[in-house]
Amino acid sequence: MCGIIGYIGRGNAAAVGLAALKKLEYRGYDSAGIAVLNTRGIEIRKDKGKIDAINRKLNMNSMQGNIAILHTRWATHGPPTKRNAHPHLDCRGEIAIVHNGIIENYSSIKELLEKEGHTFSSETDSEVLAHLIEKFYRGNLEEAVLKALQEVEGTYGMAVMHKNENKIVAARNGSPLIIGIGNNEMLIASDATAILEHTKKAVYLNDKEVAVVKQGGFSVKNLSNESIDKEVKEITWSLEQIEKKGFKHFMLKEIFEQPESMKNTIRGRIKDRIKITVDIDMEKIKRIVITSCGTSWHSALIGKHIIERTAGIPVEVDYASEFRYRDPIIGEGDLLIAISQSGETADTLAAIKEAKKRGARTLGIINVVGSTIAREVDTGIYLHAGPEIGVASTKAFTSQILALTLFALYTRQEMGMQINKNILNELKNIPEKAKMILDKKDEIKTIAKEFFKSSNFLYLGRGINFPVALEGALKLKEISYIHAEGYPAAEMKHGPIALIDENMPVVFIATKNGAYEKIISNMQEVKARGGKIIVVATEGDERACSIADYVIHVPETMELLSPVVNVIPLQLLAYYIADMKGLDVDKPRNLAKSVTVE
Ligand code: AGP
Ligand code: GLU
Repeated sequence: MCGIIGYIGRGNAAAVGLAALKKLEYRGYDSAGIAVLNTRGIEIRKDKGKIDAINRKLNMNSMQGNIAILHTRWATHGPPTKRNAHPHLDCRGEIAIVHNGIIENYSSIKELLEKEGHTFSSETDSEVLAHLIEKFYRGNLEEAVLKALQEVEGTYGMAVMHKNENKIVAARNGSPLIIGIGNNEMLIASDATAILEHTKKAVYLNDKEVAVVKQGGFSVKNLSNESIDKEVKEITWSLEQIEKKGFKHFMLKEIFEQPESMKNTIRGRIKDRIKITVDIDMEKIKRIVITSCGTSWHSALIGKHIIERTAGIPVEVDYASEFRYRDPIIGEGDLLIAISQSGETADTLAAIKEAKKRGARTLGIINVVGSTIAREVDTGIYLHAGPEIGVASTKAFTSQILALTLFALYTRQEMGMQINKNILNELKNIPEKAKMILDKKDEIKTIAKEFFKSSNFLYLGRGINFPVALEGALKLKEISYIHAEGYPAAEMKHGPIALIDENMPVVFIATKNGAYEKIISNMQEVKARGGKIIVVATEGDERACSIADYVIHVPETMELLSPVVNVIPLQLLAYYIADMKGLDVDKPRNLAKSVTVE
């Protein structure tokens, strides 16, 4: 997903803006650029590639001026090239724009504008915004932007400058934008990480809002040109939370943050009863649908087990991208739970809107405060896991499972059923158990050394730990580029067992719970065919150890909470393998931290 920065103030806009833009690199991008407004007009420098490389080539840092807009692009329309990089200009070179999102009706707009004599220099959808604003410009930039946006369908987070106006106009619909309020300087950014060095005071734009940002302040209007009062919020994440704290990668830092992030998810929510505020009458909910993407879909699968067994409400799980297009049967009496770390995933956001349209209530389980999904759902539970910078999700996943457990217990409580005190106590023990596993990092690193040259992996689990197998496989493939597949262990005999030989490492999640005897048999089937077995087993389990080639012990816990501890060895295994391969663990190729395009 791309990043947007705007700066207007006393400082050197290029230097301040580029430093802020680099804070957004984690979001994933393929090209970058800057437009600076100075006495000579608007100057643009941009190219394909990483910010530092472009800066070395084009010396963006040396540009003079106090107003600038900057962009990192994650291409949707037109390949990553210099001419497709943002910012984009109008015909006269007087208007510059940067844009995040997709202009769905850009083709028809472009056709119309070309007929009116506009000439385009890129293949992107975004460039139509510059020419549309030019079409409506009569000396007032915000008025031209408001008129242009009436013609636009699709999603945007955008910032615009005109060479004759000392201001930046920003607008959002579906792609996040915040305004940072500094001391006689203002910043615009896609998220809070980029403005923290300057200010903790932020204004979150909502969909279909347009802001005019000047050095001394800002104003916000809706698309009907009506002024809107906006609350200034305090950003609670301190900058050092975002630093790597001495870890080699953000991902490793976030794996090791899990005892803390788990505590933060639980903090204040378990007293003599579950204390979360869910603004839904759960006694009226007859069915739950959980929808999400990627790792968040894996936690959804685990949530199904937890909610059905704790609250007795039927739960369906669906990929958000499938749910939204399958004409879903959902409505009054149904609850849609959307799980999203970033709170910006386009498919998940669209699924929520679809469910609301059909009369369902909606609840978000989200990490990023003030995110788009957080403000779309009827109610929600924040993870409070802190910023997750690594593209591969780790601490958010374990916090999602804990949040789902809190929700299930809350529902049980609201339905007047007793809550087992053991699970409340075990929830409080989980962070310490996570730490015990993290203390075994060297054992896991040794196993990684044995297998980092492998070409394929199989991950097998059963019941509530089958989604953990899926998650372990996703972690490995998305950061090490090794093909890995998660599978229900019992399904092996229906095909995948044909893959087993001495070159196929097989990871079993075989902790002591429900289907333990069955999974031991599955391990023996693999062993008999020469497969190399790595097992995640409960402390003291000799049987699993006697079959496996490599063992990672985890502390015993309740079956419902076992995924929270069982996933941690798999996160570390994937991390160490990818790091041994010398790969960019925090920013894997082709991936973005948050997929805000469909
Ligand atoms: C997980 O490691 C991936 N980064 C990806 O699958 C991610 O979980 C997915 O894109 C959903 O993101 P969200 O939780 O922010 O909605
Ligand atoms: N759709 C625009 C493009 O392809 C913006 C993509 C983005 O959000 O980075 O240039």
